[in-house]
Amino acid sequence: MLDLGCGEGVDCRRFNEKGAKVTGVDISPTLIKAAREASNSKNINYVESSFTALGDIVDNSFDQVVSVMALMDSPEVNSAFKEAYRVLKPGGSFYFVIKHPFTNRANKAVVKGALTHQTSYFESTPFNHTLEFQSEDVKNKYNIVSRQYPRTLSQYINPLLKAGFNLKAIEEPSPSSEALNKFACFNLWAKEPFYLMVHAKKPE
Ligand SMILES: C[S@@+](CC[C@H](N)C(=O)[O-])C[C@H]1O[C@@H](n2cnc3c(N)ncnc32)[C@H](O)[C@@H]1O
Repeated sequence: MLDLGCGEGVDCRRFNEKGAKVTGVDISPTLIKAAREASNSKNINYVESSFTALGDIVDNSFDQVVSVMALMDSPEVNSAFKEAYRVLKPGGSFYFVIKHPFTNRANKAVVKGALTHQTSYFESTPFNHTLEFQSEDVKNKYNIVSRQYPRTLSQYINPLLKAGFNLKAIEEPSPSSEALNKFACFNLWAKEPFYLMVHAKKPE
Protein backbone atom coordinates (compact mmCIF):
# COMPACT_ATOMS: atom_id res chain seq x y z
CA MET A 1 0.00 0.00 0.00
CA LEU A 2 0.96 3.64 -0.48
CA ASP A 3 0.75 6.30 2.27
CA LEU A 4 0.56 9.88 0.89
CA GLY A 5 1.97 12.45 3.34
CA CYS A 6 3.28 9.75 5.66
CA GLY A 7 5.18 12.13 7.98
CA GLU A 8 7.55 10.20 10.22
CA GLY A 9 5.89 6.97 9.16
CA VAL A 10 3.74 6.02 12.14
CA ASP A 11 0.99 4.54 9.95
CA CYS A 12 3.49 2.88 7.59
CA ARG A 13 4.85 0.98 10.60
CA ARG A 14 1.34 0.12 11.83
CA PHE A 15 0.25 -1.24 8.42
CA ASN A 16 3.55 -3.09 8.05
CA GLU A 17 3.05 -4.74 11.48
CA LYS A 18 -0.28 -6.02 10.14
CA GLY A 19 1.48 -7.59 7.16
CA ALA A 20 1.35 -4.90 4.45
CA LYS A 21 4.20 -3.99 2.16
CA VAL A 22 4.19 -0.20 2.41
CA THR A 23 5.58 2.80 0.55
CA GLY A 24 5.46 6.14 2.37
CA VAL A 25 5.68 9.42 0.46
CA ASP A 26 6.37 12.78 2.09
CA ILE A 27 7.61 16.17 0.89
CA SER A 28 9.64 16.81 4.06
CA PRO A 29 13.23 15.47 3.97
CA THR A 30 13.40 15.78 7.79
CA LEU A 31 10.35 13.57 8.29
CA ILE A 32 11.46 11.03 5.66
CA LYS A 33 14.83 10.79 7.46
CA ALA A 34 13.05 10.27 10.81
CA ALA A 35 10.77 7.64 9.23
CA ARG A 36 13.75 5.73 7.82
CA GLU A 37 15.46 5.81 11.22
CA ALA A 38 12.35 4.54 13.02
CA SER A 39 12.19 1.17 11.26
CA ASN A 40 14.53 -1.12 9.35
CA SER A 41 11.75 -3.33 7.95
CA LYS A 42 12.59 -4.36 4.39
CA ASN A 43 8.87 -4.12 3.62
CA ILE A 44 8.69 -0.35 4.19
CA ASN A 45 10.08 1.95 1.54
CA TYR A 46 10.15 5.77 1.79
CA VAL A 47 10.12 8.24 -1.10
CA GLU A 48 10.78 11.96 -0.70
CA SER A 49 8.27 13.48 -3.10
CA SER A 50 5.13 15.57 -3.36
CA PHE A 51 1.96 13.47 -3.52
CA THR A 52 0.87 15.77 -6.37
CA ALA A 53 3.61 14.35 -8.65
CA LEU A 54 4.56 10.77 -7.82
CA GLY A 55 7.33 10.65 -10.43
CA ASP A 56 8.71 7.14 -10.90
CA ILE A 57 5.90 5.31 -9.07
CA VAL A 58 4.42 3.18 -11.82
CA ASP A 59 0.78 3.05 -12.95
CA ASN A 60 -1.56 0.42 -11.45
CA SER A 61 0.98 -0.73 -8.86
CA PHE A 62 -0.78 -0.48 -5.45
CA ASP A 63 -3.73 -2.39 -3.94
CA GLN A 64 -4.53 0.49 -1.58
CA VAL A 65 -3.64 4.17 -1.20
CA VAL A 66 -4.14 5.99 2.12
CA SER A 67 -3.58 9.57 3.23
CA VAL A 68 -3.94 10.62 6.86
CA MET A 69 -4.29 14.30 7.80
CA ALA A 70 -2.14 15.55 4.93
CA LEU A 71 -4.30 16.80 2.02
CA MET A 72 -5.32 20.01 3.89
CA ASP A 73 -1.62 20.93 4.04
CA SER A 74 -1.34 21.08 0.25
CA PRO A 75 -2.25 24.08 -1.94
CA GLU A 76 -3.39 21.62 -4.61
CA VAL A 77 -5.42 18.41 -4.33
CA ASN A 78 -6.59 17.79 -7.92
CA SER A 79 -3.20 16.35 -8.92
CA ALA A 80 -3.02 14.32 -5.70
CA PHE A 81 -6.32 12.58 -6.60
CA LYS A 82 -5.17 12.05 -10.21
CA GLU A 83 -1.90 10.54 -8.99
CA ALA A 84 -3.64 8.32 -6.42
CA TYR A 85 -5.90 7.07 -9.22
CA ARG A 86 -2.97 6.48 -11.60
CA VAL A 87 -0.91 4.35 -9.20
CA LEU A 88 -3.86 2.29 -7.85
CA LYS A 89 -4.67 -1.07 -9.43
CA PRO A 90 -8.18 -1.31 -10.94
CA GLY A 91 -10.56 -2.19 -8.10
CA GLY A 92 -8.14 -0.73 -5.54
CA SER A 93 -9.26 1.46 -2.62
CA PHE A 94 -8.27 4.99 -1.71
CA TYR A 95 -8.89 5.99 1.93
CA PHE A 96 -8.19 9.50 3.11
CA VAL A 97 -8.68 11.33 6.39
CA ILE A 98 -8.66 15.12 6.59
CA LYS A 99 -9.56 17.71 9.16
CA HIS A 100 -13.26 18.22 8.45
CA PRO A 101 -13.80 21.07 5.92
CA PHE A 102 -16.39 22.57 8.30
CA THR A 103 -13.81 22.76 11.08
CA ASN A 104 -10.61 23.58 9.19
CA ARG A 105 -11.06 27.35 9.17
CA ALA A 106 -9.14 30.36 10.41
CA ASN A 107 -10.23 32.58 13.31
CA LYS A 108 -12.07 30.11 15.47
CA ALA A 109 -12.95 30.62 19.11
CA VAL A 110 -14.49 28.34 21.72
CA VAL A 111 -17.51 29.91 23.42
CA LYS A 112 -19.38 27.90 26.07
CA GLY A 113 -17.79 24.70 24.83
CA ALA A 114 -18.74 25.18 21.17
CA LEU A 115 -16.73 26.51 18.26
CA THR A 116 -17.66 29.86 16.81
CA HIS A 117 -16.29 30.51 13.35
CA GLN A 118 -15.49 34.06 12.43
CA THR A 119 -14.28 32.99 8.99
CA SER A 120 -16.75 31.94 6.32
CA TYR A 121 -16.92 28.25 5.37
CA PHE A 122 -16.39 29.44 1.76
CA GLU A 123 -13.22 31.45 2.50
CA SER A 124 -10.27 29.83 0.72
CA THR A 125 -7.40 32.04 1.95
CA PRO A 126 -4.64 29.86 3.46
CA PHE A 127 -3.85 30.35 7.15
CA ASN A 128 -1.30 29.18 9.71
CA HIS A 129 -2.46 26.67 12.29
CA THR A 130 -0.51 26.26 15.53
CA LEU A 131 -0.87 22.85 17.15
CA GLU A 132 -2.40 23.01 20.62
CA PHE A 133 -1.19 20.32 22.98
CA GLN A 134 -3.47 19.33 25.87
CA SER A 135 -0.99 17.35 27.91
CA GLU A 136 0.73 19.50 30.61
CA ASP A 137 4.20 18.01 30.02
CA VAL A 138 4.33 19.14 26.36
CA LYS A 139 1.93 22.12 26.44
CA ASN A 140 4.53 24.87 26.00
CA LYS A 141 7.38 22.74 24.72
CA TYR A 142 6.79 22.82 20.97
CA ASN A 143 5.77 25.50 18.51
CA ILE A 144 4.48 23.53 15.52
CA VAL A 145 2.82 25.61 12.84
CA SER A 146 1.36 24.23 9.61
CA ARG A 147 0.03 26.09 6.59
CA GLN A 148 -3.60 25.15 5.97
CA TYR A 149 -5.48 25.39 2.67
CA PRO A 150 -9.18 25.43 3.55
CA ARG A 151 -11.59 23.82 1.09
CA THR A 152 -15.29 23.08 1.14
CA LEU A 153 -16.60 19.52 1.02
CA SER A 154 -17.39 19.85 -2.70
CA GLN A 155 -13.85 21.08 -3.39
CA TYR A 156 -12.63 17.68 -2.16
CA ILE A 157 -15.36 15.40 -3.50
CA ASN A 158 -15.76 16.84 -7.02
CA PRO A 159 -12.05 16.54 -8.00
CA LEU A 160 -12.07 13.03 -6.49
CA LEU A 161 -14.95 12.03 -8.78
CA LYS A 162 -13.39 13.88 -11.73
CA ALA A 163 -10.20 11.85 -11.27
CA GLY A 164 -12.34 8.75 -11.96
CA PHE A 165 -13.02 7.41 -8.43
CA ASN A 166 -16.31 5.95 -7.27
CA LEU A 167 -17.29 7.23 -3.83
CA LYS A 168 -18.01 4.32 -1.46
CA ALA A 169 -18.44 5.88 2.01
CA ILE A 170 -17.97 8.99 4.12
CA GLU A 171 -17.57 8.94 7.92
CA GLU A 172 -17.67 11.84 10.40
CA PRO A 173 -16.57 10.13 13.62
CA SER A 174 -17.34 11.59 17.05
CA PRO A 175 -15.78 10.65 20.41
CA SER A 176 -17.09 7.52 22.18
CA SER A 177 -18.76 7.97 25.58
CA GLU A 178 -15.69 6.29 27.11
CA ALA A 179 -13.38 8.91 25.52
CA LEU A 180 -15.71 11.73 26.60
CA ASN A 181 -15.56 10.54 30.22
CA LYS A 182 -11.78 10.38 30.09
CA PHE A 183 -10.91 13.62 28.25
CA ALA A 184 -13.01 16.77 28.85
CA CYS A 185 -11.47 18.46 25.79
CA PHE A 186 -13.25 15.93 23.54
CA ASN A 187 -16.66 17.43 24.43
CA LEU A 188 -16.17 19.98 21.68
CA TRP A 189 -15.76 17.23 19.09
CA ALA A 190 -19.04 15.68 20.16
CA LYS A 191 -20.67 18.86 18.81
CA GLU A 192 -18.46 19.67 15.81
CA PRO A 193 -16.91 17.15 13.41
CA PHE A 194 -13.13 17.07 13.70
CA TYR A 195 -12.35 14.40 11.08
CA LEU A 196 -13.75 13.58 7.66
CA MET A 197 -12.94 10.06 6.44
CA VAL A 198 -13.51 9.11 2.80
CA HIS A 199 -13.40 5.75 1.04
CA ALA A 200 -13.26 5.78 -2.77
CA LYS A 201 -12.53 3.03 -5.30
CA LYS A 202 -10.94 2.90 -8.71
CA PRO A 203 -13.36 0.99 -10.95
CA GLU A 204 -12.35 -2.54 -12.08
C1 LIG B 1 -0.18 16.48 9.79
S1 LIG B 1 1.13 15.61 8.99
C2 LIG B 1 0.48 13.95 8.99
C3 LIG B 1 1.54 12.91 8.90
C4 LIG B 1 1.08 11.46 9.00
N1 LIG B 1 0.19 11.09 7.93
C5 LIG B 1 0.44 11.20 10.34
O1 LIG B 1 -0.79 11.04 10.40
O2 LIG B 1 1.16 11.17 11.35
C6 LIG B 1 0.98 16.13 7.28
C7 LIG B 1 2.09 15.61 6.42
O3 LIG B 1 1.83 15.90 5.06
C8 LIG B 1 3.07 16.20 4.43
N2 LIG B 1 2.78 16.93 3.19
C9 LIG B 1 2.21 18.15 3.02
N3 LIG B 1 2.11 18.46 1.71
C10 LIG B 1 2.63 17.41 1.03
C11 LIG B 1 2.80 17.12 -0.36
N4 LIG B 1 2.41 17.98 -1.30
N5 LIG B 1 3.35 15.93 -0.69
C12 LIG B 1 3.74 15.04 0.25
N6 LIG B 1 3.62 15.26 1.58
C13 LIG B 1 3.05 16.43 1.97
C14 LIG B 1 3.81 17.01 5.48
O4 LIG B 1 5.21 17.07 5.23
C15 LIG B 1 3.45 16.24 6.75
O5 LIG B 1 4.36 15.20 7.00
